[in-house]
Amino acid sequence: MLNGKHITLGIETSCDETAVGIVADGREILANVISSQIDIHTKFGGVVPEIASRRHLEVINGVIDEALREAGITMDEVDLIGVTYGPGLVGALLVGVATAKAMAYAKHIPLVGVNHMHGHVAANYLAHPELEPPFLGLVVSGGHTNIIAVDDYNECRTIGATRDDAAGEALDKIARVIGLGYPGGPKIDREAKKGDPHAHEFKRVTLEKGSYDFSFSGLKTQALNFLNKERQAGREISVPDIAASYQEAIMDVIAEKAVSAALDLGETRIAVSGGVSANSRLRELLREKGEEHGISILEPPLILCTDNGAMIACAAYYQMKKGIFADETLDACPGLEF
Ligand code: KG4
Ligand code: ZN
Repeated sequence: MLNGKHITLGIETSCDETAVGIVADGREILANVISSQIDIHTKFGGVVPEIASRRHLEVINGVIDEALREAGITMDEVDLIGVTYGPGLVGALLVGVATAKAMAYAKHIPLVGVNHMHGHVAANYLAHPELEPPFLGLVVSGGHTNIIAVDDYNECRTIGATRDDAAGEALDKIARVIGLGYPGGPKIDREAKKGDPHAHEFKRVTLEKGSYDFSFSGLKTQALNFLNKERQAGREISVPDIAASYQEAIMDVIAEKAVSAALDLGETRIAVSGGVSANSRLRELLREKGEEHGISILEPPLILCTDNGAMIACAAYYQMKKGIFADETLDACPGLEF
């Protein structure tokens, strides 16, 4: 406890960020330290799982110490430890899970295993102190594209999901092919600002009527075929135009589906999260379409959109409130569903 407030420490190591956040009473961020491995993986054009695990192991203790320093507390003030146990890369998850279990055991602190996707939803509780469920969540990340009915804290129902590639995966792949490197999402976002979103009209895949599912693999193939054709014909491609057109096709479908799901379900709020929700065009389209239909769009700041420990601490706090704890048998669960 610190000044009568409950203190949660959240650990996140599911992919390529070693992150530790500390929150007071579930919603007030005292520290949010993120050690990114992006520079290391950039050389390989994507995340190398073995390297990710090793790096997490090297830096995790330092990141915890820095978070405690930033929050101005010691482990003695920590009341709860939350840790991401899935979905993600198994070796990477194991580093966080083992660390959290060891700390909980050594300091006699209760432990909560957090679903990474619930963590992304929880980023909105940190960004919007007044927000309470129910609301519609849109979680768009490197591995997920989900429209979620958030019925209660940590109670999420998937309304729509991608049937193949996640939006982030589709962005990262084409970014690599057009030479932008990893991670592609932010680079496509930046290039797209200089390009024409209608230079190439990529066909949108909207699936059957009434479905809120997504499919991005056909779009990715269209873009790859187009790029190959242009190359074979010896034509110069405009990276900004391709980035803008491809981004437009992805974000248009996401915004359209999310808003129509909200309308059909009678929800007036869409809370976005996940790395791809940092995309400036997605935010613009959601705001435009939302405004048209009286739906408000809740956006966390960029630092809470991508992977971080504060969102895990927040989700853990609400799980603790419901009495859902983990023990020393907690294990990494790479394929954990929403
Ligand atoms: O949520 P996140 O940090 O990690 C996962 O849980 O996957 O999301 C990472 C994804 C990557 O695919 C990255 O390219 C994408 O988020 N991303 C973006 C932007 N910033 C990050 N995509 C589009 N526009 C951005 N500004
Ligand atoms: Zn994530």
